Amino acid sequence: MDKVVIFDTTLRDGEQAAGGTLNVQEKLEIAKQLDKLGVDVIEAGFPISSPSDFEAVRLIAKEIRRPVICALSHANAEAIDSAWQAIEEASRPRIHVFLSASDIHLLYQLGKDRREILELSRDMVARAKKYVDDVEFSPMDASRTEPAYIYQILEAVIEAGATTVNIPDTVGYATAQEFGDLIEGILEHVPNIQRVVVSVHCHNDLGLAVANSLEALRRGARQVECTVNGIGERAGNASLEEIVMALKTRNDFFQLTTNVDTTQIYKASRLVSELTGFLVQPNKAIVGTNAFRHQSGIHQDGVIKRAITYEIMDPRSVGIPASSLVLGKLSGRHAFKERLAELGYSLDDEAINHTFQVFKELAEKKKEISDRDIESLVAEELRTTSEVYHLDHVEVSCGDHNIPTATVRLIAPDGQILADAALGTGPVDAVYKAINRIVRVPNRLTEFAVKSVTEGIDAIGEVLIRIESDDVTYTGRGAATDIIVASAKAYMNALNRLLAVKKQRKNR
Ligand code: KIV
Ligand code: ZN
Repeated sequence: MDKVVIFDTTLRDGEQAAGGTLNVQEKLEIAKQLDKLGVDVIEAGFPISSPSDFEAVRLIAKEIRRPVICALSHANAEAIDSAWQAIEEASRPRIHVFLSASDIHLLYQLGKDRREILELSRDMVARAKKYVDDVEFSPMDASRTEPAYIYQILEAVIEAGATTVNIPDTVGYATAQEFGDLIEGILEHVPNIQRVVVSVHCHNDLGLAVANSLEALRRGARQVECTVNGIGERAGNASLEEIVMALKTRNDFFQLTTNVDTTQIYKASRLVSELTGFLVQPNKAIVGTNAFRHQSGIHQDGVIKRAITYEIMDPRSVGIPASSLVLGKLSGRHAFKERLAELGYSLDDEAINHTFQVFKELAEKKKEISDRDIESLVAEELRTTSEVYHLDHVEVSCGDHNIPTATVRLIAPDGQILADAALGTGPVDAVYKAINRIVRVPNRLTEFAVKSVTEGIDAIGEVLIRIESDDVTYTGRGAATDIIVASAKAYMNALNRLLAVKKQRKNR
């Protein structure tokens, strides 16, 4: 049975999704979870694209030792040198060079002819090879490129030292049969192809990314590039969890395995959703909240009698927690810590103590604390570790005969306590205006959404917002039983991200 190399690009192509910006610490947090998940390669970023991307790749290369750590690079000398500087401390470094190959890109974007592109591809792979043995090459927009030209490029880059050749369906245009034919053609017509791993990288513009990737694997590809929750540029990339679970569940058909510990999938999905601010749709395969819920009476009856009647996968196999322990106000620190561990969290003592204190406050308000509540508390804790300004106090007065008024108190980075008040069209508007009077960074609110973590009037409310400043979108999330407090926390979270980026730019 063959092994498929799982190449995760959540931190690179996934983060390219509009509004999904992650800071360096958040990227490291996700990389740690990808390591636990057992992916073979982590594409940690695109070092030449920004100083913070460079820093994130460098940190991940230093800290995460088991998987291959890959850095993406344009096909030019400066980008390759920067990619190498970012990953040189990795225990297993890889440089991934890409260059457009389709006539559409050559004509309208690059203004170069096929011969020039072929030579540049070969020369830049050779340059990367001087730094590192493990070099991947991608002819971008391959699915809209004449196959005979792809064969020539691949032969040349393999000759120059590429060890993996990746075939991207950059714009999500291919159908499964066409893409499978392309892979089969490559395996048949590139004379030195047996020396390398053939990889695929599919986008989801037509909703075919997973189907195309699976077909390519069936036809002989042995590396698949994918992202947690399928996030990525435009409609996203092929979803890691769907590919891995399809290979596992239909092993009888594919006869392929991976190194992924599938019980870590749910945790990875939640973490990526929390940190990017991209909610997972309820009907999303494998990790959506409805993915294992049975509503119809006939289905429920069947599942009670035997799960196999309507369930093709065991929810526990993807790590959806089957909670046996119900936590409440009498639960002690020990039980709380145990539950955190069962849910896969490893917080330091200070973070456990603080989260436990918040848990106790919540338990005073709510009879039973669910796993989703705990996940929300932990997410809140992780958010506050990277704060610039801390929200210390928020108070509103509103009603149908009042002008909404808010008072807020923030703690500044130097420890100073800053307070202000404002009127608004509603309580949230008043809170945001009061915060703006203190923080004073121009921005525009583009999205505001509230949802409850669990059912019931005493549920935690989660607020997701997006703000825009200098054409960059920043996501913020906040959770509390009071949705005005949750809204204030979400705004502070987005502002803190904005401020961190501005500070980084100033230090450049
Ligand atoms: O979609 C694409 O072509 C890419 C390349 C950089 C591999 O992301
Ligand atoms: Zn891509």
